[in-house]
Amino acid sequence: MSNPELELAPEIDYFYSQVVDESARLSMSADGRLELLRTQEILRRFLPAAPARILDVGGGPGVHARWLVADGYDVDLVDPVARHVSQAAEICPASVGDARALAAGDASYDVVQLLGPLYHLPDRAERLQALTEAVRVARPGGLVAAAAINRYASIFEHSALAQLQKPRLESSVSEILRTAVYDGHRGFTLSYFHRGEELAEEMRSVGLTDVAVFGVEGPAWSMLKAVEHSSGLTPNDDLFASVLTAARMAEPYPELLAASSHLLAVGKAPA
Ligand SMILES: C[S@@+](CC[C@H](N)C(=O)[O-])C[C@H]1O[C@@H](n2cnc3c(N)ncnc32)[C@H](O)[C@@H]1O
Repeated sequence: MSNPELELAPEIDYFYSQVVDESARLSMSADGRLELLRTQEILRRFLPAAPARILDVGGGPGVHARWLVADGYDVDLVDPVARHVSQAAEICPASVGDARALAAGDASYDVVQLLGPLYHLPDRAERLQALTEAVRVARPGGLVAAAAINRYASIFEHSALAQLQKPRLESSVSEILRTAVYDGHRGFTLSYFHRGEELAEEMRSVGLTDVAVFGVEGPAWSMLKAVEHSSGLTPNDDLFASVLTAARMAEPYPELLAASSHLLAVGKAPA
């Protein structure tokens, strides 16, 4: 990348190249499958009819690109991690790029989605830069969708994993609740966790209109984690269906956004 201020933090490249296989994240656990299913059903409500041009920014190995291509969309993917770009290239045109400085031309896509970059940008100015870029490359009236990790996800996750009573975890989760920032010392990278109203405000502040924020997994996702963790077994279909129903039922109640693991915001690029 030519602008040194936009270099990818080395720990992000290391995390996705060496520590985890992002291509399996949304299929290997029940809460991952719930995240995928709910992201699909929410996005499909707002996507224009296929074929339309979609830019998947921070699209990783292309898990979302895969179903969007199957739905008939013309998808291009950019991601700063070379491993992801080579995995995604099996699915759609993919190139190395950064959400803060997109190579795409103005108004060149019907849809721009950022389902990952925002939580990797702890600095608000950089998140707004990424959203401003999304608005620039979206056509007037086009859809911009952005995912965030919920500020409160870690308290649900670590209590479900029966870990919150451990002083190290209690202190780490308290710090996230207090500051919205995870320092990246273990298990994930330096990252930023949003409140629902804050994600909506960031979307509006770059000119997006008709902004709506959804709780992706809803209020009961951590029960899936608790069952998987305590039994080592896949949660049964009834529990999965019940948790999924809870996510759908919670949608009209903004106060329940606080209990979801991920947030998904949609907005319209200005005309
Ligand atoms: C958890 S993965 C999500 C991948 C995929 N979008 C999904 O939802 O399954 C987060 C992605 O954001 C990418 N990312 C991190 N920083 C970024 C940046 N500055 N610009 C664009 N993508 C970035 C990572 O490389 C990674 O692929």
